Amino acid sequence: MNKKIALLQQKRDEALKGGGEQRIESQHKKGKLTARERLHFLLDEGSFEEIGMLVTHRSVDFGMQKEQYPGDGVVTGYGTVNGRTVYVFSQDFTVFGGSLSETHAEKICRIMDLALQNGAPVIGLNDSGGARIQEGVVSLGGYADIFYRNTLASGVVPQLSAIMGPCAGGAVYSPAITDFILMVEHTSYMFVTGPGVVKTVTHEQVTSEELGGAGTHATKSGVTHFACANEIQALDRLKQLLSYMPQNCEESAPSLPYEAADERREKLDDILPENVSHPYDVREVIGEVIDEGTFLEVHKDFAENIVVGFARLAGKSIGIVANQPAFLAGVLDNHSSVKGARFVRFCDSFNIPLLVFEDVPGFLPGTDQEWNAIITNGAKLLYAFCEATVPRITVITRKAYGGAYDVMNSKHIGADMNYAWPSAEIAVMGAKGAAEIIFKREISAAADPQARWIEKEKEYSDIFANPYRAAERGFIDEVIEPSQTRAKLIRAFKMLENKVVNNPRKKHGNIPL
Ligand code: HXC
Repeated sequence: MNKKIALLQQKRDEALKGGGEQRIESQHKKGKLTARERLHFLLDEGSFEEIGMLVTHRSVDFGMQKEQYPGDGVVTGYGTVNGRTVYVFSQDFTVFGGSLSETHAEKICRIMDLALQNGAPVIGLNDSGGARIQEGVVSLGGYADIFYRNTLASGVVPQLSAIMGPCAGGAVYSPAITDFILMVEHTSYMFVTGPGVVKTVTHEQVTSEELGGAGTHATKSGVTHFACANEIQALDRLKQLLSYMPQNCEESAPSLPYEAADERREKLDDILPENVSHPYDVREVIGEVIDEGTFLEVHKDFAENIVVGFARLAGKSIGIVANQPAFLAGVLDNHSSVKGARFVRFCDSFNIPLLVFEDVPGFLPGTDQEWNAIITNGAKLLYAFCEATVPRITVITRKAYGGAYDVMNSKHIGADMNYAWPSAEIAVMGAKGAAEIIFKREISAAADPQARWIEKEKEYSDIFANPYRAAERGFIDEVIEPSQTRAKLIRAFKMLENKVVNNPRKKHGNIPL
């Protein structure tokens, strides 16, 4: 037995070496950790159980049978993060550039199958040159096997992808189907076709970083939800994200202990600027309402006119969607609608209650918006709220104008409780524009049209620039002092804790994509 154990140890040691000293050194020189080092920093100490450590590839072309590395370029298994089970794969760039072979794909599929069967999140640490070029179509088949499982697992268990190196070609579509993508600044990139192909086809000269680096995807495309300064920050962010999520769609997210205290937040009574057209940062409102320091903003630098993210309220995990008056006056446009919709759907998939702060002047007008399908994209946000069955509460802080009033989690589309601050203005449009349209003839016939316009604007504003018309109808459940907001929300979410709503039975809806 001793001899046999020694042989086993030898094989294990060989697997632990990955692609060898030199390649590990080169990985470190690029500022990157190895696949195993990443798992060390991600998982609770000593919790990792590896699966398939001795798997090798089956290819024979190009002399490949002689080049074997146990594990075949991906470390897979399960472990715990803060005591909760997760399934993980971590691609090893030191072995064939982390490229995906038939067996490499089988290893990933195996842990995805286990995650789906046993109801725990899947975390992928991606660092790969793409399809194993020596293998051809079996590698492409391997990708498709993963995409298929990503889709089956979507909405069943949370799936998180960290991009920690190259991720190119069709390989990008696995992370794209998962719930959240994190990228590391300067050492990771994602694109369907690289700078070389781009130059040939479109004659554009662009670097990998410009085309598909973390900065690009965090600000321009929204492909990544987080851009992290380094790998350790990315791994910490993964852990933080997980803390707001349940293990699967049948469970609730874990709560933290909470002791009731004085929940009044006087600062909120003075948080809005005196002039209704002046901006304020909605993050300040969020910060006052939630448990201190618990906001984890998602898509922070993309479509900044809407703010989304996770937080805790009285220890419980919630998802927040808030119009941001400090950016484009909080208007809804193509990007912000899609950003909001995707976040709402994630929260609803995983039983995370939704809190909406509304201050929205409407949808952004213009050819750019219309030609880029604001109709379809705005409908995504509308659809996402309509179908959400988690507890849903809205607080209208200021403007709730036009179609955006309906879309932003109104009572009409299934919100459970809607509060308004006394500063709320719930109307078809702003008073100035409204007066111009409905009193057009009267204004132009007046001796002093400007004065008449102002008079009519005031008249419209007196009638509609308040929350009371909506409250009279019951569209607003209560008009509250801003300082009461936190207390009201804690009670209302508690009241909604056991909410059960079943939408009509269907195969699946047809969200306007
Ligand atoms: C096999 C690969 C490989 C691949 C890299 N290697 N990519 N082996 N298949 N796809 C190997 C290299 O031969 C090298 O081996 C080692 O990994 C490190 O690669 P380097 O080129 O030395 O590293 P670096 O300079 O950092 O460049 C990394 C890279 C480059 C940018 C990823 O390797 C590259 O462009 N690779 C090809 C990318 C690609 O075209 N992939 C196919 C995309 S199509 P040694 O032995 O020297 O260490 C695709 C389709 C998926 O993926 C479709 C799914 C539907």
